[in-house]
Parts: sequence; C-alpha cells; structure tokens
Amino acid sequence: MRAAISLLVLLFSMCGAQTRSTQTEVQTESQSTGAAAAAEVSTRLDVSAELRELRDMVVELRVLLTLTQNELRDIKEEIKTKVEALERGLVASETKVEAQEAELTAVKARLAASEAEVENAAQEAELTAVKTRLAATETEVDNLKKITEKSKVAFSAGLTDSGYIESGNNELNLVFSKVITNVGQAYNSRSGFFTAPVRGVYYFRFTVRDNLESRYMAIQMFKNGQQLMFLWDTDTDGYANYLSSGLTLQLEVGDEVNLRIPADYRLYDNSSNYSTFSGFLLFPL
Ligand SMILES: *[C@@H]1O[C@H](CO)[C@@H](O)[C@H](O)[C@H]1NC(C)=O
Ligand SMILES: *[C@@H]1O[C@H](CO)[C@@H](O)[C@H](O)[C@H]1NC(C)=O
Repeated sequence: MRAAISLLVLLFSMCGAQTRSTQTEVQTESQSTGAAAAAEVSTRLDVSAELRELRDMVVELRVLLTLTQNELRDIKEEIKTKVEALERGLVASETKVEAQEAELTAVKARLAASEAEVENAAQEAELTAVKTRLAATETEVDNLKKITEKSKVAFSAGLTDSGYIESGNNELNLVFSKVITNVGQAYNSRSGFFTAPVRGVYYFRFTVRDNLESRYMAIQMFKNGQQLMFLWDTDTDGYANYLSSGLTLQLEVGDEVNLRIPADYRLYDNSSNYSTFSGFLLFPL
C-alpha cells in the first residue's frame, strides 16, 4: 500500500514538471512568429500526446487504486478472519476454563462428601464400639448385681434350747437349729450345713459348751466332708467348759461347711445360747 502511494506521488510530480516545461516551450515558440503555425500544430500534437499519456496514466492509477483497494479489502478480510478466529479461540478458552472450574467445583463437592462420609463412618464405628462396650458393661453390671445379691451372706444360729446334744455310737453332724440371723439363706437350720452361694472368701466361727465332770469335749469343722479343725478339752469339776475358734475359708459355689462331734461326745445349750455357729462372706472372688 505504501509502495502504491509513493508511486502515485512520483507520477503526479512528474506530471507537474512536464506541464511547466510545456508552458516554457509554448512561450519560447510563440516569440518566433515565423514558424508559428507549424509550431502551434506541433504544440497541439504534443499536448494531445501528453493528454493521452495522462489519461493512460490515470487509467493505470485507477487500476492501481483498484488493486490497492482490493489488496486493502483482502487484508481487512484477513485481519477480520484472524480476529474472528482469535475471538472464537478466546471464547473456546473461556468455555474450557468455565468447564474446568465447574469440574473443580464438582470435585470439591465430591471430596467434601467423601470427607463427610468418612467422618460419618468413623462416628458410626465409634458408636458401634461404644455400644459394644456398653453392652459388655451392662452384662458386667448384671453379673455384679447377681453376685452382690448373692453376696449378702451372714448367719448365726444357736444349737438348741433343750440341754445336751449327744452323738452316741456315731459321730454327729451338729444342727444349730435356733436361727438368730440367716441373710441369704445359705445356712440350712434343718441339716446344719452351710452351702456357699458364690465363689469367695468366708469366715466361720463357733463357741460350744459342755459341763465336764471327768469327761472330754471336742468339736470338728468340715469342708465338703473333709476335716479342717479338731479341738478338744477336758475337766473334772462339772462346770462349764467352752471351745471357741474360727477359720477363713476360700469356697467355690456349692462348697459345704459344717460342725461335728465324734462318737460318744456331747454339747450343752439352752435358751442362754451357750453353743453357737456363725459365718459370713468376706468378699466374692
Ligand atoms: C441354762 O443353763 C444354765 C447352766 O446349766 C442353767 O443355770 C440355767 O438355768 C439354764 N437356763 C434355763 C432357762 O434352763
Ligand atoms: C438366744 O437367742 C434368741 C434368738 O436370738 C434370743 O431371742 C434370746 O434372747 C437369746 N437368749 C439369751 C439369754 O440371750
């Protein structure tokens, strides 16, 4: 385009110079009147030639202008196409960015949901663990309650209100028939046996009396038919003698404890409660 304009300027300046030189020639030639007519014809021919030349030049310039205009239009078109392409590209990029942003938002939402799920799962697991522990604790509490209920064990009983109790030819299981206390009913006042209701450590004690005039007295403690203790005493004055002792025993559920006297022995009691048998649970195991 710039080249075309330069060409145009050059053409115009050339044209101006030619006109001026033509005028000079005209003036010079007019001075010579002799050859005036011939000169005038010549001059006219020259002017026509120049005019033709100028017309050709204008035609050329028009062609050039048209070409330049076409070129300009092409360039404009090209630029427009490029700009449009760029715009399309920009729009596409923007769309892509928007899509990516949307995707990012979706991913974030999914992540948040996953995190919430994980947290929920953790809380559920914790809850389940707590429930399990609670159930175990409840079972334990129930067991403890049962044990505590069964652990209320204490008894005391007097032997008899009716004087002497004698074994005769065979050893005798003593039945302390006068119940003073029997919490938990572990002592049987008809058989004289104590039966352990829970596994634990128990304490048993007794005090028994006889009136000794040249006799022996004795007492034995048994656990499940096995002797644990044998005490005896003797005297000649006919007054009261007492045997008294106690044992701490570890018993399983169902273990039995009782007192006996050997064959041909006796004990004394009346409403004064001289002979008594007592026991209680110290603690369960
Ligand atoms: C109980 O025994 C003692 C000693 O033998 C006697 O002194 C007392 O009178 C007896 N009591 C009863 C109520 O029989
Ligand atoms: C002997 O024990 C019974 C029963 O607990 C009681 O009622 C009685 O008063 C006791 N006898 C004496 C002399 O303390």
